Amino acid sequence: MRTIDWIDGAIELVDQTLLPHRLEQRRVTELGELIADIQRLAVRGAPALGVAGAMGVALIAASVTEAGGDAELDRDEVVRQARLLREARPTAVNLSWGVDRALTRLDEGAAAILEEALAIRDEDIAACISMGLRGADLTRELTGKDPVRVMTICNTGGLATVERGTALGVIQTLLEQGSLAEAFPLETRPLLQGARLTAWELQRMGAPFRLLIDSAGPFLLSRGIADAVFIGADRIAANGDSANKIGSFSLALAAKHAGVPFIVVAPESTVDMNTASGADIEIEDRGVDEVAGFGGTRTAPEGIDAVNPAFDVTPHELITAIVTERRIIRPGSGETLATVPLEALRS
Ligand code: MRU
Repeated sequence: MRTIDWIDGAIELVDQTLLPHRLEQRRVTELGELIADIQRLAVRGAPALGVAGAMGVALIAASVTEAGGDAELDRDEVVRQARLLREARPTAVNLSWGVDRALTRLDEGAAAILEEALAIRDEDIAACISMGLRGADLTRELTGKDPVRVMTICNTGGLATVERGTALGVIQTLLEQGSLAEAFPLETRPLLQGARLTAWELQRMGAPFRLLIDSAGPFLLSRGIADAVFIGADRIAANGDSANKIGSFSLALAAKHAGVPFIVVAPESTVDMNTASGADIEIEDRGVDEVAGFGGTRTAPEGIDAVNPAFDVTPHELITAIVTERRIIRPGSGETLATVPLEALRS
């Protein structure tokens, strides 16, 4: 099953708001629907947003071409609509990266834009396999353990990519290699991507795991429950500071305290060399409603306000390693994204 794909002239995506109770595919034919689906997290996770961005431009190009009949593609109109898509969510750089990359084919027309979007989809599938293999080897090396116990946050699995996942892809690879003792996903308030999505994926892959509440993660690391922490990333700044789901920073601090490796797993498309440091990363605030209730039930008093950052930033000093499909960078040991060379994909 693919989380997002292009089928018969439209985007098909798994509606993640319905999981784990219902697995349903949605067909998206219009830009407005896609933007709404991104904002309500029907499609989410940085790499999947990259594919959604590129396929969204293909959708725009197709609709503009249709409207103009045989006339040439109205480039200004495609760019205007693409800007709306680019701004649907601010933190994950993959969304704007996917939009911009699809737009590089604008002069060649709608078919070329779609070709680029499909290439991004296929590259994501290959990248996840490579990250899984690199990450699994690194985990055994850094921990000196086999099998290993790992902690993770949010959802970084097949649901956050096209097929297989980044940090959760490493956990899946460890499982396939007989090297996973147990996984500890955090539930990930307020929208429970860990409890709803990661637990669903771990169960489907047959992995041994126990779910934790978010606030138990740092304490249980201090008690030695896990040998390593794996997280994904929404944007990795040039200095290695990494934005990811809120709660990641607390885990990094606790991992440092416990002497446990803290590993960021993300594709090269999440690296943003135009953003100097984590301080320059815009953090999405999703407002009071997600904090003041769940599933339509109000849990907090009416009339209150909340601060609800969807992401935080882990400073590079706290990151043992960043694993991409093409290399491993060890910011905690002074290595930088600018100097570690790219290697071949692993498969
Ligand atoms: O708000 P979300 O669910 O889009 O947040 C997703 C995350 O924080 C993921 O960890 C990140 O995008 C990496 S996904 C491989």
